[in-house]
Amino acid sequence: MADAALLRVDGLSAGYAETPIIVDVSFGLARGSITTVIGGNGAGKSTLLRAIYGLNRQFGGDIRLDGRSLRGHDPAMRLAAGIGLVPQGRCNFPRLSVRENLELGAHSLPLRRVPAAIDRVVALFPMLGRKSRTMAGNLSGGEQQILETAMVLEAEPKLLLLDEPSLGLSPLMLGEVFATIRTMRDAGVTVMMVEQNVRGAMAVSDTVIVMELGTKTLEGPPAEIGNDPRIKAAYLGA
Ligand SMILES: Nc1ncnc2c1ncn2[C@@H]1O[C@H](COP(=O)(O)OP(=O)(O)OP(=O)(O)O)[C@@H](O)[C@H]1O
Ligand SMILES: [Mg+2]
Repeated sequence: MADAALLRVDGLSAGYAETPIIVDVSFGLARGSITTVIGGNGAGKSTLLRAIYGLNRQFGGDIRLDGRSLRGHDPAMRLAAGIGLVPQGRCNFPRLSVRENLELGAHSLPLRRVPAAIDRVVALFPMLGRKSRTMAGNLSGGEQQILETAMVLEAEPKLLLLDEPSLGLSPLMLGEVFATIRTMRDAGVTVMMVEQNVRGAMAVSDTVIVMELGTKTLEGPPAEIGNDPRIKAAYLGA
């Protein structure tokens, strides 16, 4: 039977060297949905995203994309299979122009497909076209975040993993970041993000996953999770 979920994580344990950080984590991501992972510092949120992208040691469990196990797939193989990760922090090549960054972002594609890939992300984010000659380091924080995301989108991922897309941005930029995430979802991309801006992220999400001390403690629609007294107290300042 075809699985409705694009990604299915079953009993995943993963971490670094000899140390499992996340333990027995399971969930599915519906196609075309937006999921936010919340949790305290050190809860294992980044480790979870990195494990899905193949950057962490997997101790147990399974991750399946479109029903196919990713076991033994390195990040390059996962990117080719349709998973993109925008890590925490911004702007890998600040001294190169926006256009040059976009050319680097297309490194995983055959050369003949590069111009179309750049055209596609510029159509999605016209700012990148208007500022194509601007040095990436001179873009605003929010614009740099869009550039980093566009570089990953060039590979046409089905699933985009975003680690704290609003980190370090002014409150004014937050709306823009979450609008961007909606735009990508509307373009057919399934999104899983880690966010500290819980309210803003919940407002655009279909599902919220709560991580505490390396395990998933809650999962549900934002209306339900947002009504949980513990979540209100810990994350919503109520
Ligand atoms: N390279 C590493 N080697 C060993 N342990 C690590 C490594 N990176 C992270 N950890 C540990 O894994 C745990 C979870 O870290 P992780 O970065 O996944 O948390 P997080 O939920 O993303 O936190 P934050 O909200 O601060 O970003 C932490 O205790 C951290 O010290
Ligand atoms: Mg993190």
